[in-house]
Amino acid sequence: MSKHWWQTGVVYQIYPRSFKDDNGDGVGDLPGIISKLDYLNDGTPNSLGVDAIWISPFYPSPMKDFGYDVADYCDVNPLFGTLDDFDRLLAEAHKRGIRVIIDWVPNHTSDEHPWFIESRSSRDNPKADWYFWRDAKPDGSLPNNWGSHFGGPAWSYDATRSQYYLHQFDPGQPDLNWRNPQVKAAMLDVLRFWLARGVDGFRMDVVYMIMKHPDLPDQPWVNNPQARAANDLYFRQEQIYSHSHPDIFPLMHEIRTLLDSYGDKVGIGEIWIEPEKWVQYYGTPEQPGLHLPFNFRLITTPWTAEAVRAEVEFMESLIPAWGWPNYVLNNHDQQRLASRLGQQHVRNAALLLLTLRGTPTLYMGEELGMLNGHIQPDQVRDPQGLRMGLENTRDFCRTPIPWDASPNGGFGTGTPWLPVNPDYETRNVAAQQADSQSVLALYKRLIWLRKQSAALAQGRYASVASEPGIYAYTRQADDETLLVVLNFSSEARQHPVPSQAEIVLNTTLDRGGPVSGALNLSPYEGVLLKLS
Ligand code: NOJ
Repeated sequence: MSKHWWQTGVVYQIYPRSFKDDNGDGVGDLPGIISKLDYLNDGTPNSLGVDAIWISPFYPSPMKDFGYDVADYCDVNPLFGTLDDFDRLLAEAHKRGIRVIIDWVPNHTSDEHPWFIESRSSRDNPKADWYFWRDAKPDGSLPNNWGSHFGGPAWSYDATRSQYYLHQFDPGQPDLNWRNPQVKAAMLDVLRFWLARGVDGFRMDVVYMIMKHPDLPDQPWVNNPQARAANDLYFRQEQIYSHSHPDIFPLMHEIRTLLDSYGDKVGIGEIWIEPEKWVQYYGTPEQPGLHLPFNFRLITTPWTAEAVRAEVEFMESLIPAWGWPNYVLNNHDQQRLASRLGQQHVRNAALLLLTLRGTPTLYMGEELGMLNGHIQPDQVRDPQGLRMGLENTRDFCRTPIPWDASPNGGFGTGTPWLPVNPDYETRNVAAQQADSQSVLALYKRLIWLRKQSAALAQGRYASVASEPGIYAYTRQADDETLLVVLNFSSEARQHPVPSQAEIVLNTTLDRGGPVSGALNLSPYEGVLLKLS
């Protein structure tokens, strides 16, 4: 069965501020991305070989949430370049067979977006109802008890309208009222604008939030030990009215239909909800929803063979036959993988992500085993960190990509907006390109293998029984059967293999060849074998 590019391909996320700075202002930009496309895929196994890039927002924005507060959906922020630069990026990427996915931020605009400026100007202007405006309750308290994801209440007061407006993130990110047909039409036009320019798809920011309960009722309080700070009201509530109202599903189908009318495009949704509800975002065969609702579950799964196996099996059983799985281990909102799991697990994580059934999405720097950056309290830039303290800042995972050992890691000539990581002189792209056993070398091998293997790109998945501490599975298509054996434990282990097995690679890239009967694994070692 032939699959779509977004099923067989590997997606690579670029956080543009921190990827490569071309003009020396300390902030990455679109020309910087263009200059590194050959690193991402030059058509040969010397490059990483990714099939698509997803670029986080590059639109005009006051940068209260570093671009997730959009002031104009149809232009490029001068900080990142121009629309011409974007067109050039698209053409250069396509020339290399790299698809381009951009970020669409439908839940909220910037408070500096002209729509919001008009909406807040009076209670009866044409856009008065484009956002959520409410009076205080009769006792003077806030319109409801909802919390902002960045801490504190989700309502801010506007003196002109003498009303509160809703923002589930920063006060500079007012929520759009999608029940207003004009809002919906305007936001779908944004999709059309970029589709007409030739983009290949969208990553849809917190898309599950765009349909709320029409009455915005108070939400029940819960005792959540994962609440991140004293002012974290958000995680102390059951989010039952603030998102995923059932009206969202027809809307997802409408968006899917729009994308499909432009050809083989992809819609990837950022959706953080319980799996039984999450899976509904795939829609039904008659009314398909999103192509790929992002699956973040492995980000929070305890890193043991048993827990990871259980999670993958759960996904395999949950996702309907017409849906396609996907896996994510890292992004610009999370602790870096190597810091979260420990460097010893990085290579197995790569083998896992790139051999599971489903589309893998990498976050830039993951292919280098990058650690969290070192951020001092006075270097915090992220609104979540500013409102909820250093331990909650996402600046840690947004430090610049170290390209080489030169000053600032070769990121650019200016002082980077966040400091480069202290280990940049040894952990950088150039050093890992020169080392045939580096983490980067492992990612390259796996990505290029995936392209050549129908079993990996689209084959069946089957779990294989094993000793504790080991997670093993096969991938199979036509006459090709591959076996993946991952030793999650700190001890040497053995796993039975059939008589005619061949090691394709191991995670330290130092063994190959035939193996028969039993496979010995070093601590934390993973092995990919060919069985037929
Ligand atoms: C999710 C994005 O990934 C995050 O970076 C952003 O702060 C929020 N949505 C708000 O747009």
